[in-house]
Amino acid sequence: MTMQYYQQARLIVLGLCLTTLIGDTSAGNILAVFPHFGFSHFKVVQPLLSELAQRGHHVTVISYVKNPLAAQLPNYEQLLTSDANEDQASTTINVVPLAEHTPTRSLPVLLKEYYDLFSEGQTTCGRLYASGHVATVLERHKEQPYDLLLTEYFSNDCQLALAKLMQLPIIGVSTCALMPYFYDRIDLPDNPAYVQSEFVGFAQPLLWHERLLNFVQAKLLKLLYKLHTNRADQKLIKQHLAIDIDVDEVARDQTAFILVNQHYSHMGSRPVTPQLIEVGGMHITSDAKKHLPQEVEQFLQRSPQGVIFISWGSMVRASSIDADKLQAMLQVLSQQPLNVIWKWETDEHPQVDANKFLFVKWAPQLALLCQPRVKLFWAHAGLLGMTEALHCGKPLLMTPIYGDQFLNAYAAQQRGVGLKLDYEQINVTTLQETLQELSHANYAVSAEKLSQVFNGRQRTPLESAIWSVEHVLQHGLFATKLLQSPGIELNWFIYHSLDSIAILLVLVLLIIASWRALFPAQSKRQSKAQTQQRAGKKSRK
Ligand SMILES: *[C@@H]1O[C@H](CO)[C@@H](O)[C@H](O)[C@H]1NC(C)=O
Repeated sequence: MTMQYYQQARLIVLGLCLTTLIGDTSAGNILAVFPHFGFSHFKVVQPLLSELAQRGHHVTVISYVKNPLAAQLPNYEQLLTSDANEDQASTTINVVPLAEHTPTRSLPVLLKEYYDLFSEGQTTCGRLYASGHVATVLERHKEQPYDLLLTEYFSNDCQLALAKLMQLPIIGVSTCALMPYFYDRIDLPDNPAYVQSEFVGFAQPLLWHERLLNFVQAKLLKLLYKLHTNRADQKLIKQHLAIDIDVDEVARDQTAFILVNQHYSHMGSRPVTPQLIEVGGMHITSDAKKHLPQEVEQFLQRSPQGVIFISWGSMVRASSIDADKLQAMLQVLSQQPLNVIWKWETDEHPQVDANKFLFVKWAPQLALLCQPRVKLFWAHAGLLGMTEALHCGKPLLMTPIYGDQFLNAYAAQQRGVGLKLDYEQINVTTLQETLQELSHANYAVSAEKLSQVFNGRQRTPLESAIWSVEHVLQHGLFATKLLQSPGIELNWFIYHSLDSIAILLVLVLLIIASWRALFPAQSKRQSKAQTQQRAGKKSRK
């Protein structure tokens, strides 16, 4: 009897040893490079990085934004490109004044937006290389090789030098709608007749001039990105590492997956390849649904009829709103039945009835949105807030300010879960009408139905992301090559079948020419007869 127990115990110990051994050997060494300064960008990947560390992988994270949990996470090393003492509450959030809103999506506006993103990207790259962390990880790679580069595909590729030098497969994360530059990397169809880029944003179906703009920007911005942004990336790489690297080629050769922060139920169905993984909602974790601050909790208790939650995102400074628009908002909001919780980042907020209005500097948005008493979310249509509203099933009033927000807002409006009210259109009349319309039950019903589809996944978005990372960790560049479309190797002439079309055209022309050569008399007689016939008809008239 005791012997049996002893043997069982031995088996268990052996088993445990084996699992730790296997666990250890399958643990990957991940290099994560997310140098963009925006909090909302880093927020999307933070749960993925944390979860990877929890699962036993070693994660070296080069980022601008601090992960507050970094010190507590096992195997998680944080290398900041920002000053460690920097007060990130003022540098990574509330950085966009409302004056920067872009009301029209015309070509000049898009080009300006491209240029702003380019400048931002180059600042990010400069900071990344100046931080010394690139040299650090390159050095470390010699001792403890990295297995994977996990990085953001947004407005620069200077970090891809690391993938080239270490020969790593790449997983790119797009924290917003996929930029037009990255489709070709994985041969993802972007038919401009209906697939809209991050830069535009129209209601479907597109009108002829919208399709024209969508077509032009898709081609033009891709070209600009290659000739302008990537050249600047390469110049910087040469300056710091003294080597010539074609970053676009590296991206095509070594990208295994692109994880994109969107979901078809919101952004629409479209053809995808196995390299694109939709992880919209990845940042929504049970952790993020933690308790509300006491003042918010109490305010909700005092609002039996429900509340409108107003938040124009972490990047936009709500307090930079124009005086007349603020006046109109306060007037209309005071007169309607719901109470109001408003994300307002400064100490001085409008002096209004404190029973009806609560101003909060920072709201745990997800936790708040999922509260049954929140009846309407007035958002700026940034992707994170939109995703959270979709998850919680709340109707939306949307005032897009810049970037992909127009696209996100139209997509939600199309699905009947909200209405878009442009910033420059806000006045007493328009706001009253919009709120009146949104009070109809159909918006709440559609939001609830959409939420069920959005949440009804085969795997949670975080699980999908983890799977893709571990798949590449396990199978490396071998799996990457299997995933890649042969289309990325082809030149444009062959890719669009112009060679086949050209051959067929030549054949048709040859047939016509030989017909004419073989039966010259017949064709001449025919044409003569035709001319006479026509002439006859004319003279009779
Ligand atoms: C409010 O804005 C709408 C749309 O821009 C405009 O037609 C209307 O005249 C404005 N109303 C007032 C009272 O300013």
